[in-house]
Amino acid sequence: METINAKIANIRENMMQELDSAGSSESLQALRVRYLGKRGELTQMLRSLGNLPPEKRPAAGQALNELRQEIEAALEARSLLIARAEDEAREATDFVDVTLPPRGRGWGGFHPVVQTMNEIIDIFVGMGFSVAYGPEIEDDFHNFEALNIPPHHPARDMQDTFYLDNGRLLRTHTSPVEVRAMLRWGAPLRIIVPGKVYRRDSDQTHSPMFHQLEGLLIDEDVSLADLKGCLNTFVGAIFGRPLDSRFRASYFPFTEPSLEMDVECFACSGRNPSCRICKGTGWLEILGCGMTHPNVLRYGGIDPDRYNGFAWGMGPDRVAMLKYGLTDLRVLFEGHGSFLTGGGY
Ligand code: DAH
Repeated sequence: METINAKIANIRENMMQELDSAGSSESLQALRVRYLGKRGELTQMLRSLGNLPPEKRPAAGQALNELRQEIEAALEARSLLIARAEDEAREATDFVDVTLPPRGRGWGGFHPVVQTMNEIIDIFVGMGFSVAYGPEIEDDFHNFEALNIPPHHPARDMQDTFYLDNGRLLRTHTSPVEVRAMLRWGAPLRIIVPGKVYRRDSDQTHSPMFHQLEGLLIDEDVSLADLKGCLNTFVGAIFGRPLDSRFRASYFPFTEPSLEMDVECFACSGRNPSCRICKGTGWLEILGCGMTHPNVLRYGGIDPDRYNGFAWGMGPDRVAMLKYGLTDLRVLFEGHGSFLTGGGY
């Protein structure tokens, strides 16, 4: 019994000392294992109670259990202290100031050209046109020949393009999709073709890649009046109010007659001789158009004696420039962050 009591006193003393110097929850856990764990000192003593003479067991057992409770209480008290100290240390280093304003996410947005393109598409879809697409890498047949532009036609000069090694080329306009659509769907037909086109051109008002939106309507008894009505309706919708328009005679190999459409300057209506938008002319040139040439219908597999139609091609980049008052086309394609997110240029 004496030896047991001596051992108990010994453990108590050692344990309390070590507890005082335990500074972290890990060292506390180590202590718990050392004394109370499966092979802990106290546990082993409790197990060896059976070796004592029966009359000594109750007193020794009670003393050991008291020590066990004491140790548990001390560990618990110490662990609260350590946890609080650890919390405080963490707060000091991982400090989060919840009163700071959030960093913000920034807004994504559609590119001005895409916005303009989508507006144009919506307007024509509202008039019953379907949207068609074609390849940007074209062949000579669709880009030129089927559009009534034979190999040595001077009109090819206006559309100097990029040729690929395999004889194909980057399309110079969206008109080749007219031919593809006619061959695919036949007449009657009502399509618009938005897309990218390419030419060897680069200055303030030309970019080697730019956008076009083509339109084609084929049916029986289509007239120039239909073309005018359709395009005037479009102009009123895109600029927000009906605008005067005029059609000037022009030339495109794939239309006959060919016209260029000008609209009244939406900024000054011709009343400001120093208008930045129309340069004082009062008119804005917005598209080329005309009645589809019979040869083109034939190339598209459509009988020109039964059907006729009109077509137009316009530049959404130019429409975007007009709408947003830009003077240099190139800003549209430079990817300037502030410009693209509406921060101005
Ligand atoms: N393809 C012509 C160009 O790129 C634009 C054009 C003019 C298209 C008249 C047409 C049209 O469909 O009828 O310059």
